Order: sequence, then structure tokens, then C-alpha cells
Amino acid sequence: MTINHQILLASRPQGEATVDNFKLVEAPVPTLDQLTDGQVLVRHHFMSLDPYMRGRMNDSKSYAEPQPLNTVMIGGTVGEVVASKHAKFAPGDKVLGMGGWQEYSVVDASVKGAMLHKVDTTHIPLSAYLGSVGMPGVTAWYGLIKIIAPKAGETVVVSAASGAVGSVVGQLAKARGCRVVGVAGGADKCRYVTEELGFDACIDYKVHNDPKAFYKALKEATPNGIDGYFENVGGMILDAVLLRMNAFGRIAMCGLIAGYDGQPLPMQNPALILVNRLKIEGFIVSEHPEVWPEATMELGTMVATGKMKFRESVAQGIASAPEAFLGLLKGKNFGKQLVKLI
Ligand SMILES: NC(=O)c1ccc[n+]([C@@H]2O[C@H](COP(=O)([O-])OP(=O)(O)OC[C@H]3O[C@@H](n4cnc5c(N)ncnc54)[C@H](OP(=O)(O)O)[C@@H]3O)[C@@H](O)[C@H]2O)c1
Repeated sequence: MTINHQILLASRPQGEATVDNFKLVEAPVPTLDQLTDGQVLVRHHFMSLDPYMRGRMNDSKSYAEPQPLNTVMIGGTVGEVVASKHAKFAPGDKVLGMGGWQEYSVVDASVKGAMLHKVDTTHIPLSAYLGSVGMPGVTAWYGLIKIIAPKAGETVVVSAASGAVGSVVGQLAKARGCRVVGVAGGADKCRYVTEELGFDACIDYKVHNDPKAFYKALKEATPNGIDGYFENVGGMILDAVLLRMNAFGRIAMCGLIAGYDGQPLPMQNPALILVNRLKIEGFIVSEHPEVWPEATMELGTMVATGKMKFRESVAQGIASAPEAFLGLLKGKNFGKQLVKLI
């Protein structure tokens, strides 16, 4: 009998999440004759760790329902079909799904809206379908193209710039002729953002770690002000950016990771929104399935042709997932955080 190792949500965090909120368990993997018509058995090669999972651990009102206790942690996965009772899937197919924090999943592909898609790995590595060519990439694409709508020559700033979403935002904005400034934590991340990803500048918020110093560095990096801001973090960075926004600037509110453990993130001077006639729009990528074909076409082409660079932090084995996830919430990842399962 093959064993499926799974990680369950065992308890809800009080403030900061800890490893004790998770539990590693074992379950049997079904055999082909145990599958019912329409079901597909997938062996996961990589699972994705994403900041949104922290929100699902809470039992509070949000845009999505909380994850129930003692169920497999939610999450994106890529892997290979190992057994199938669905005509469209055959063993060996590479697939993207929402298999969760476990080594195998069974998907009923005959159910309308079932999340299982075949992916082509000829020119794009399988893992990239969880990063630049997957949900984080489409998030970057939507916020930048549909909300910020940058024009050549404008200045775009993005926080968490070395990460899965931020790295794509900057490269897409550079491809559209913008001046692009990243904000990241640490010299290595900032060097990567400018030297590898081609941003024009990057501000290390751990060096410029008080509002005055950060604002000064931001002013130097944005001599013409800021036209578009892609927000991933919140707090001091958002306050400083608001002071540099040009009239009719656009802010895509993608994430506020600095507050995911529940700490308040007050905004110092909301009057700047009025004075500068700013547009600020929050969005959730899963509510915009209509952009996936266009976005993944551009992202896939850029990755396949080497025009979109990406970096991954890869934890090894299912048991490493809780630590790797807690690290992601503290910036220990450098690029898209994945767990490699085989
Ligand atoms: N709206 C949507 O539909 C949607 C979809 C996907 C992702 N998101 C959001 O997009 C953002 C980025 O997600 P991602 O998957 O690309 O993650 P990521 O950027 O690859 O990793 C998270 C990064 O956030 C930074 N960070 C963590 N805690 C921080 C803090 N207290 N202050 C400042 N920076 C902190 C760290 O970078 P540094 O070391 O540089 O600080 C860390 O590496 C998150 O806010 C996420 O919730 C939203």
C-alpha cells in the first residue's frame, strides 16, 4: 500500500502562526480500481506556499471561507497523473491543480469547475506553473495591467519586489517602458532585483528602516514622483509611497503581508488620496478568471524565451512545509516558495 503524507490545519493561530498549528498524518493512496468514474489520481511534484494561506487559518470574515480544522491545508500543486478514470487525463500527463499540502490527491475531473489543468512543460518548467506562469504571475499581471495601467515613461514602484508576485510586476512594467523601483528586505534581494531582474533601483527597507530614512531613499529613487504603486506589504512603505504619488496615480492593493498576523496597519495620511486624486483598488486574482488566457500567454512566452526571470526557494519533503511557510511570512524565502515532494 502506498502512503499519502498530508498536513492538516490542527488549530487556529493566536497572533503569529506556529508549527503547532499543523499536524502531519498518513492516509492510504487509492489504487486504480478504487477510483470512481471521472476521478484522477495525481502525484504532486511541487506544492506552493503562499501568503494567502495565513488568512485561511483564521476563523474570521474575509473574501474566502476559513479553512476547516483537521482538513488538508489548501494549496496549489503541480504533478503527474498516475491513474485515471477520466477520458481527458492519462497517466504521465503533467497537471496543475489545487491538491493541497499532501503528496497525492484525487480529483473528480467530471465535476464542473474541477481544478485540474494539463500543462505543457516543453519550454516552461513544471514548477513555474505555481509561480511566474501561475497564480502569482497572473496576480502581478492583473494588478499592473488592469489597475495601474502603466504608460511608457511612468514610474512604477512595487514592494516585496524579489518575491513571486513583485518580481513579475517589475519585469512586466520594464517591458512596457516604465522606470521601475522595487522595495525589498536585504542587500542580496535588492542586488538581485536590480542586477538580475533589471529594475532601475531597489530600496532596502531594512537599511532605511525608519519613515524619514525610507522616504529620503524613495525620493532619490523616484525623481519624477510615482505614477503606479503595486502594494504587497503595507505600513511604513505605503505611507512613504503616498507622499511621493503624482496626481491621478494608481495603486493596486494586492497584499498587506506586514499585517497578516493581525497587527493593525494604520495609514498615516489618507488626505493624500484626495489631494492627489488617487485611485486605490483592491483585488483578488481568483475573481478574474477572464484574464488568465491573455495573462498566461504573455507570461508563458516571456518565461519560455528567457525574458522573464524567476527564482525559487525550494524546501524538501512534505514535513518541511510548516517551517517553510512560517519563513515565507518573515521574508526568509528568496523568490517563489515551493516544497519539492519527489
Ligand atoms: N490579491 C491577490 O489576489 C493576491 C494573490 C497572490 C498574492 N497576493 C499577495 O501578494 C503579496 C506577495 O505574495 P508572494 O506570493 O509574491 O510572496 P513573496 O513576495 O514571494 O514572499 C513574501 C515576501 O513578503 C515580504 N515580507 C514578509 N513580511 C514582511 C513584512 N513584515 N514587511 C515587509 N515585507 C515583508 C518578504 O520579502 P522581503 O524580505 O523583501 O521583505 C517576503 O519574502 C502578499 O501580500 C500576498 O498576500 C495577493
